[in-house]
Order: sequence, then C-alpha cells, then structure tokens
Amino acid sequence: MKIGVFDSGIGGITVLGELRRSFPSVEYVYLGDTAHVPYGTRSAAQIRQLSADCARVLKSTGIDALVVACNTSSSLALDAICDVMGEVPVFDVVGPGVEAAKAARRKCGGSRATVLVLATRATIRSHAYGKALGANVIEQECPLLVPMIEEGWLDHPVLHRTIKEYVGAYARAGRPGVALLACTHYPWIHAAFERALPGWMIVNSAQAVARSLARSGIARKLRVRGKSRAGRVQWIFTDPDAVPAMARDG
Ligand code: DGL
Repeated sequence: MKIGVFDSGIGGITVLGELRRSFPSVEYVYLGDTAHVPYGTRSAAQIRQLSADCARVLKSTGIDALVVACNTSSSLALDAICDVMGEVPVFDVVGPGVEAAKAARRKCGGSRATVLVLATRATIRSHAYGKALGANVIEQECPLLVPMIEEGWLDHPVLHRTIKEYVGAYARAGRPGVALLACTHYPWIHAAFERALPGWMIVNSAQAVARSLARSGIARKLRVRGKSRAGRVQWIFTDPDAVPAMARDG
C-alpha cells in the first residue's frame, strides 16, 4: 500500500506524521511544492493548476491513494485534483478539520462556543469552513505566517508579534473558544498560538484525517503489523534547496 501526500511546502508533514503513527507499515510519498509556496496568496486558477500538477507527479509514482494535506488546495482545487487522479481515492483536510472543530466545540460549551478559523487568505475567502461550521464562527486570514514557517521562524519575535496582530483582539474580547488551525503549516507553531490565545482550545485536522482513511474503503489495506515503526517515506521537493532544516528530520 502506497499513499501520496502533498502540500505547498512543509505543512503537510504535520499530517504525514499522524498518518505514519496511525498506519506504520504503509509506504508514503511526500511532495512539497517548495518551488511555489505559498499557495494561499495566489489566485484560484493558479492554486488549481499547481495542485493538479502535484497530483500528476504523485500519480506517476503509482500511489494507491492521495491525501491532499493542504487546506488551500482542499478548499479550492479538490475537483481538479480528483479529475487527475481518476479511480485513485482522494482524501482532503477540510472535512476532517470541520470534524475536529465540532468535537472541540462540544467539549467547550456546544454551539455557543466561538470557533476561530485561522487559515491562509485563499482558504478563508473560499469560506469552506465558515459554511460548514455555521453560526459563531470567525474566519481570520493569516497570510504572513506560512512564509515565516517555511523560513524556520517557529519561535521568532516577529512571528509572535504577527500572530498577536491577527488574533490579539479575539484573545482580549472575552470568553475563550476553539481555535482551528485550518492550515497544515500552523501545527508547526502550535506553541505560539497557545501563547497568543490563553485558555483557547487549539485543534488541527491531522488525527481526523487519519480517522477518515481508517473509515474508508482502503481501511483494510492500512492495518498491518508493527505499531512502533514509522512508515517509510520517499521525499520529493520541487525546490530541494528551499526545505527548512526542521523538516529534514523525518
Ligand atoms: N499548508 C497549506 C494549507 O494548509 C498551504 C499554505 C500556503 O502555501 O499558503 O493551506
């Protein structure tokens, strides 16, 4: 069993990590489109084109399933990706992200609890999450964060200052709610969000993505031996020189 995983850069590694933990004997091919990151400030047409190109590369490696580990591609290009993949099953991150936010909301006072969706500009403007989550949702675009994460600035004063600019007003406004990291890059800076949003429940989609595979038609092929070993990965980066050191440890 071989699963392809792609993102504009190193964000999808946060999803890949969970997949490797959940399905350790699967083989993975990870594609990071580091030559074109960030996707989130591009036009919908460009995002569709780049996402379809990634799908084409991964399909040519003979994968049995594809995980679109990028919210921007999942929100704007899923149909274009599915067209490329044909019969190969495709899993996205938006449905699982919504599932994670709803589960957290139940623990946090139910539908009255605010869900703060944090994502790229393109994801936020698609309203993929806003539409799925309904009332009491705030959608906040954070376009400067992905370039900083790709730069390896996970605990940099400029990063902390920028996050404060994006979420400070919500942190000051009153009752903490649920903050959904609706960009797969953001779990890299989970600690920085915790610092900026004290008391908030901060969630991401990675575990729910693994659950969506476990519930699907490919479930039977995912469960094999050896729980402790992390699944083998073939890495492809469209610009290998632009991969930050912390992403090379996988
Ligand atoms: N990791 C991405 C996402 O989940 C893409 C970020 C970007 O390239 O702007 O949206």
